[in-house]
Amino acid sequence: MARKVILDVDPGIDDALALCIALFHPELDVTAVTAVGGNVSAAQATSNVQAILEHLDPPRLPRVGAAADPEGGLPVDGRYLCGVDGLGGIGITVAERQHLLPSEKVICDQVRAAPHQITIVALGPLTNIARAFARDPELPGLVGQIVIMGGTLNSPGNITPTAEFNIYCDPTAARKVFRSHSTKVLVPLDVTNRLELSYDVFNLLPDETNPVGWFLRQILPPAFRNYRQQLGLEGIHVHDTVTLMSLLYPSLFTMRSMPGDVEILGELTQGMTVFDRRRVPAWRHNMEVAVDMKKDEVIERIVQGLQKAAE
Ligand code: BDR
Ligand code: CA
Repeated sequence: MARKVILDVDPGIDDALALCIALFHPELDVTAVTAVGGNVSAAQATSNVQAILEHLDPPRLPRVGAAADPEGGLPVDGRYLCGVDGLGGIGITVAERQHLLPSEKVICDQVRAAPHQITIVALGPLTNIARAFARDPELPGLVGQIVIMGGTLNSPGNITPTAEFNIYCDPTAARKVFRSHSTKVLVPLDVTNRLELSYDVFNLLPDETNPVGWFLRQILPPAFRNYRQQLGLEGIHVHDTVTLMSLLYPSLFTMRSMPGDVEILGELTQGMTVFDRRRVPAWRHNMEVAVDMKKDEVIERIVQGLQKAAE
């Protein structure tokens, strides 16, 4: 039976790629896609989710949740890598706007409707999940698991010297989720940064006659351009897609159980993830953390996932 998932996303080219794979994957039943502000504002993230779903037209249409920015607003955004609209500036818009419930309400409803069965794949800041837990305090124990793209273990951050983007956008929310009594898997930058998709991937993508092929061929060239101009890299990182792969193909990843938390106050370290790795840790283990992956096999699975999405 397909695994029920909620995709919590801030599209974002990286998130959009993960959506293309997940929405058409036979082993996943995407019951909802909830938007969260991060790479782009809450309003733009919501409109991007709707536009992507409308364009891709997956076999089963998931519920959609609308994002609202965190209190105090987003401290940063990811437009320097994702383009003005988060999707490479391709100008894809939604033709038919629906009335949407807030993302946290959608998460609560979905988890309550299928207790212990839902996996939340959190590919943006943890704002919605923290809000859902505040709205329904029993929810952490009712979620199957949360798979989170975020944080760093030993490597530097990507938005400050010490912090990873998703956690930095809403550190208070991240701390609440880390400290909640839910089952969590964290896929940090140390692992996701190891994989770069090279431009050769273009030769393997579905062609333009297919909606997935068309979409990928629109959003990926701006990503390659921005990675070269902003980071001096010839390939692109696909953090969110790697995280999705850890759920679909766990045997390709090495996991370690760890006690993790988030720094919310530090002048230089706000949004940094901290793990108690002392010989005798005082904190309780609260998550599985990805520490390694079989990179070449993960790349193969990503390409296969994108090809299958177009079949
Ligand atoms: C994360 O931040 C965003 O820019 C990406 O979409 C990804 O979720 C990587 O740090
Ligand atoms: Ca993201």
